[in-house]
This record gives sequence, structure tokens and C-alpha cells, in this order.
Amino acid sequence: NNYGVIMAGGIGSRFWPLSKNRMPKQFLDILGTGKSFIRSTFERFLPVVPVENILVVTSALYKDLVLRHLPELRPEQVLTEPVRRNTAPCIAYAAYRIAAENPQANMIVAPSDHLITGEAEFQNILREGLAFVGGTEKLLTIGIRPSRPETGYGYIQIDTAPRSETEGTSICKVKTFTEKPNLEMARVFVESGEFFWNSGIFVWSVPGILKALDTCLPDMSARFAAGKGDYRTASEQPFVDAIYPSCENISIDYGVMEKSPDVYVRCGDFGWSDIGTWGSLYQHAVRDERDNVLGGGGHVLAYDTKGTVVNVPEGKVAVVEGLEDYLVIEKDNALLICRRSSEQSIRNYVEDVKYRF
Ligand code: GDD
Ligand code: MG
Repeated sequence: NNYGVIMAGGIGSRFWPLSKNRMPKQFLDILGTGKSFIRSTFERFLPVVPVENILVVTSALYKDLVLRHLPELRPEQVLTEPVRRNTAPCIAYAAYRIAAENPQANMIVAPSDHLITGEAEFQNILREGLAFVGGTEKLLTIGIRPSRPETGYGYIQIDTAPRSETEGTSICKVKTFTEKPNLEMARVFVESGEFFWNSGIFVWSVPGILKALDTCLPDMSARFAAGKGDYRTASEQPFVDAIYPSCENISIDYGVMEKSPDVYVRCGDFGWSDIGTWGSLYQHAVRDERDNVLGGGGHVLAYDTKGTVVNVPEGKVAVVEGLEDYLVIEKDNALLICRRSSEQSIRNYVEDVKYRF
């Protein structure tokens, strides 16, 4: 009765030029663990969800890549989108598809590109979450205790500030959900002690998410609902390909989580990290004595340089001098040099690159 949905259609644009359209971050082994992010995500699901109930939603461009990384899946377990419309349509598609098979199912939805070191604890939280949402219309998100005013995350406020480190590890009702606040707001949130980060990992029943989509995103929901007879038949793909371009481009966080009244959070401490930016990679990578992260396969010589990430491909030699808190990243035909503090803007630069060249 439990399903796992892996969202794997993003392009990881804040990791440009390492993560690219052709080979986005979820298929890379950025941390050198020996496995791609998507492979690790899939293996984390296996003790909780039967393998035949795992679905991956991705761009049509990546279907073969997904099957290569996850050879255990049958091709029909990889749902493909003709265009990118962010995570709300991705989740709507998965929910309608599961409903066609098992209308009372529960689903776990997870991004494909996170690092989780405490797997056993994570799996216990998922089991607890499934038991909590089963047979209800509650939406549950897994929360993380914030450690810095990160602006790339969603912030979840609970009714009362946790009085101790362990409080909040039970399920709490969410008071407010604020996706990607500005830095000033993020600072206030973190200092107040009343907020958790949204991990982007959700647990809910199929009726629960379908109802929330219907309430919060009625147009989108109606588009997917119109294909009730098509899911799990030969006409599923043509149907989805036809409706997708007209779906609103919106994330589940802005589209549903911020608006829905029946949201809960289970805060967990399971070694979670969204390796979403160079900064988070920097936190997790091995640094030299001057806090540089040098490598990427090539050779790097750094003089009078600190707090800097230099990543060049195998066969390249890079020499840097006098840099402090910079990113120098080369991949294929692209080179990025920017301040580490500008990491959130990289996705905008990538838009400009696409537009101009
Ligand atoms: N199938 C599909 N289609 N997947 C997508 C799409 C799409 O159009 N867009 C993004 N994804 C996938 C990404 O590959 C990633 O695995 C996941 O959905 C989340 O997308 P991100 O683009 O990485 O979201 P984010 O990091 O900005 O924000 C989300 O995660 C944060 C924690 O990591 C939000 O849920 C935040 O609230 C949260 O704090
Ligand atoms: Mg992310």
C-alpha cells in the first residue's frame, strides 16, 4: 500500500557548469561516495517500500539514464515529462498514476539529490510518517533543525518553540510555511527558534494530496483528473504529453505547502543535507589547511588562496593566486568564476547563458 516517488527532473542549475542539462546533478557522484545521488535515494527507499512501488518522475530526456542507474526498475516505473514544470505537476502526475492502481495508497515523495547519512533513523521516520498519514488527508513534511539562514529552503513554523533539542521530534502541526525567504527573513526565522527547514521529503496519502491539489491548484488538478481512464494504459504518455505544456510551472512548496491548512512536520536528525549549491558541497567536502576544496579530477595549484573551490576536469592543470571565497569551476566548454556568496545567483546566470548563447 506504500509507494515511493523520486523526483528527478531538475537540472541542478546552481551547480552549473558541473551539473548540466545533459547530465544533471542527480546522476553525478559529486561527493565521491561511489554512487550517484539517485542511486543512493533509491537504495534508501528499499527497506521501506517494495521495489515495484517505486516510481521516478523525470524528463523524457533522462529516462534511459534513470534506467541505467536503477536497472531494477521496469520502464513503466519511470514516468516522463515532455517539458519541465517544476515539482507540483510532477507530484500531481505521480499521485494520479498511483491512484489508478491503488486509490487508498500512501506515498513518500523525495528529491533525488540529497545526502542522508543516518539511513536507519531516516527509514524509521518514514515508517512513522506512513502510519501517521494513512487513512487521513494530512500532509506531512520532514523538517530539519536549521543551522544557518539559508535562503534556498522552505521554512516551517510550528506553534510553539521547541524547548529542548529533542522536542519537535514528534509530529507537530505547522503554523506557517514560507518557501525561500529573503536573507533578512531567514535570519529572523532561525533566530526565533520556532522554525524548521523543509527537507523537501513528504509523506501523505493519495486521497490527501489529490484533495490538496484540487483545493490549491484546481486548474492543474483538473487537467490531470481528466485522464483518469488513460493512466496505466497505452494512452497515458500521449495524454500526459498533451497536458503538460499547459500546466503551471510551480513547485509543490509554493503551490500546495504554503497554502494548505492541514500540514504537519516531523523534525528529524538524520544527517540530512541538500547538496544543492557549491556552498553545501563545500561544507561536506574535504578541505585543505586553508579551507580550500581543490580537485574535480584535474590538478590544482593554489597560492595565497583560501576558502575557495577549484574544480577542473581530469587532464587539466589550474593555477590560482590571491583568491578568497571564490568558485572556479570548469567543465567541458564552460568556465565559471564567481564569489562563493553568489551561489544562489548561479541559476540566474545559467538562464542568461541559455538566452544569449
Ligand atoms: N520530475 C521533475 N520535474 N522533478 C523536478 C522538477 C521537474 O520539473 N524540478 C525539480 N525537480 C526535482 C529535482 O531534481 C529535485 O530532486 C527535487 O525535484 C527538488 O527540486 P529543487 O529544484 O532541488 O528544489 P529546491 O532545492 O529549490 O527546494 C526544495 O527542496 C528544499 C530542500 O532541499 C523545496 O522543497 C524547499 O522547501 C526545501 O527546503
Ligand atoms: Mg534541491
